[in-house]
Amino acid sequence: MTRKRSIKPGEVVADTKEFDTHIKKIVPRYDELHEAVLRSIPPDLSGKPKILELGCGTGELTRKVLDYYPKAQVIGVDYSSRMLAEAHKKLDRYGHRLDLRRGNFAEVDFPNDLDVVISTLAIHHLTDPQKLELFKKIYQYLKCEGWFANGDVTLFESNRHALLPLRVREEQAAAAGYKLNILDEETASGSGDYPATLKTQLNLLEIAGFQKIDVIWKFYQFAVYGGFKHCEPKEEVEYDISMPDF
Ligand SMILES: C[S@@+](CC[C@H](N)C(=O)[O-])C[C@H]1O[C@@H](n2cnc3c(N)ncnc32)[C@H](O)[C@@H]1O
Repeated sequence: MTRKRSIKPGEVVADTKEFDTHIKKIVPRYDELHEAVLRSIPPDLSGKPKILELGCGTGELTRKVLDYYPKAQVIGVDYSSRMLAEAHKKLDRYGHRLDLRRGNFAEVDFPNDLDVVISTLAIHHLTDPQKLELFKKIYQYLKCEGWFANGDVTLFESNRHALLPLRVREEQAAAAGYKLNILDEETASGSGDYPATLKTQLNLLEIAGFQKIDVIWKFYQFAVYGGFKHCEPKEEVEYDISMPDF
């Protein structure tokens, strides 16, 4: 009897070597979404910026960040050892600039002093209360003026738009010459998916304390959005240093 390999939310396919080609079929404009995340990173980062990537998977976005920011130190977190194994094959040549860590990003502590936190196609595996907790944690670990960007799937506000994603997938499958039913058979079931509307996700960012929240890019149900951590200048505390009378 053959046993079906159990698949964690986000691993997408049973054979991880297939991930990089498969994801482009199920996420239209996958590379454009990555590019929007990269371009959203403020260009004024100085020194050796510390960038944390949540759910780095096989390291596709990670590789692009390392190339885009040749001085950056990138920490990638993912709970899937087989996704990380693929990422290592691609990325070990970056040496000390990269630190891949296995762990659940909803549970592990993050490194301090982060300049930027990024994520693609991973946070929708958390429920809304878990998303909020994560956003609060990201806010806590970001430096002042740090930026967080998430490129992820969203839900449309109206059910009357619910069929739009299917239309887009059908068009893409027809143009590229593959069958949607076969693609869907090869894709792990949607268990562990908790997408929220874009408005909800932006609200959660605001509740977590983020400011200058913006939507950078959107293509049907996929969006790249983010916010800054803005710290108020600390008020000068005046100490009374006069000596008491004895
Ligand atoms: C669909 S893949 C996307 C990978 C990559 N970000 C990309 O754009 O190609 C989602 C990744 O998030 C990881 N993931 C999902 N939930 C996670 C969690 N709570 N903690 C750590 N990794 C998680 C999965 O293992 C998977 O590698």
